[in-house]
Amino acid sequence: MNILLIGSGGREHALAWKLAQSPNCDTLFAAPGNPGIAQEAELVDISIADHAAVIAFCAGHDIGLVVVGPEAPLVSGLGDSLRDAGIPVFGPNQKAAQLEGSKGFTKDMCAAAGIPTAGYARYDRKASALKGLDAFDAPYVIKADGLAAGKGVIIAETRAEAEAAIDDMFGGGFGDAGASVVLEEFMAGEEASFFALTDGRDVVAFGSAQDHKRVGDGDTGPNTGGMGAYSPAFVLTDTLQAQVMERIIRPTVAYMAANDMPYSGVLFAGLMLTDEGPKLIEYNARFGDPECQVLMTRFEGDLAALMLAVATGTLAHAECPLFSHQAALTIVMAANGYPAAPEKGGAVGLGTVSGATVFHAGTAEINGQLVAIGGRVLNVTATGANVTEAQAAAYAAVDCIDFPGGFCRKDIGWREVAREAASGTP
Ligand code: AMP
Ligand code: GLY
Repeated sequence: MNILLIGSGGREHALAWKLAQSPNCDTLFAAPGNPGIAQEAELVDISIADHAAVIAFCAGHDIGLVVVGPEAPLVSGLGDSLRDAGIPVFGPNQKAAQLEGSKGFTKDMCAAAGIPTAGYARYDRKASALKGLDAFDAPYVIKADGLAAGKGVIIAETRAEAEAAIDDMFGGGFGDAGASVVLEEFMAGEEASFFALTDGRDVVAFGSAQDHKRVGDGDTGPNTGGMGAYSPAFVLTDTLQAQVMERIIRPTVAYMAANDMPYSGVLFAGLMLTDEGPKLIEYNARFGDPECQVLMTRFEGDLAALMLAVATGTLAHAECPLFSHQAALTIVMAANGYPAAPEKGGAVGLGTVSGATVFHAGTAEINGQLVAIGGRVLNVTATGANVTEAQAAAYAAVDCIDFPGGFCRKDIGWREVAREAASGTP
């Protein structure tokens, strides 16, 4: 089977790397891809936004499966266009992608399906949102309704900060995403990411991870797309994972099916592990980036076959996903200035990295030189018997990389490393 992969980030490099290993994958194409993905796939120069061009490419190259990496094409309906053309696609239709595209939609679904999540209220007007703060206590959680590249959530310690955030959202500071605002009750606890694959009817767990969203060591500074991750998230025990499947994932899949918008693809649940049990923070309609890099490093099955089963509604007959018992950890190397204003054009020398896999994100090859062209540039990924070992191997590999215009956090995996040290595991 020929496969077309859509996207150009570290997530897509990891997917390309795994898909290319699949016995079911003949030729792998990627649009637009990046220099790392080019080592695994033939890059295709088509505009992802031009659905007719994507369909024409598929027809001309006997594509049996399209894998959509990022959320934007899903939210804009690429899944629908491909399905209408009879092309199997891994990724939800536009209506189902609202689970990521609209925080308000997801909160309403949780309320209707009894899924544990933070209490909330939705507002379409600034005055009512400001008044709505009366019903909440500090810290205030204020969210732009639509897609905001992971930056649409403000946790405000004071009422004045909360009012300023609401002002900013309705003032266009978050683009169209801020035309509607959700206020939420603050949930205290540790965060973890949980993944499940579903074809709209059947559902299987697909691993866990923990991300590091803040730019600075010790979880300080502004939020980013993610500065590193490890898998599995041991804090999400088997018992908790079973609860997440029964109380959160399965009711979601059932709700979407019952409301005529069956969800097909990967459901990425951002969870808060509260004293009252796991609660949903948000859904994403795609793999996490960089969570995907650690999941793919541990996944031991045939990814193309599994994704095709999801795309064609035959998940019930697919092999149960198997993961290595090893821990995997990925460190994001970002361009100086990320997330506010990443410097572009910095030279990147990969040197001879051993014992780790380097997934490319914002890189380009210009006149034979690898350079940084995005905020997050590389994902240095290693495995180990536990997170402490995986962390040591990944940082040893980082030391071999010559990227003077870049930086990384020095403490990826710190929560689990501390737990391992406390329990005498390493
Ligand atoms: P989101 O984009 O919805 O994942 O939110 C980004 C981050 O904001 C999450 O990873 C949490 O750290 C935090 N967050 C979002 N909602 C809440 C909440 N209701 N309570 C506490 N923290 C939250
Ligand atoms: N790393 C978080 C995300 O992909 O949304």
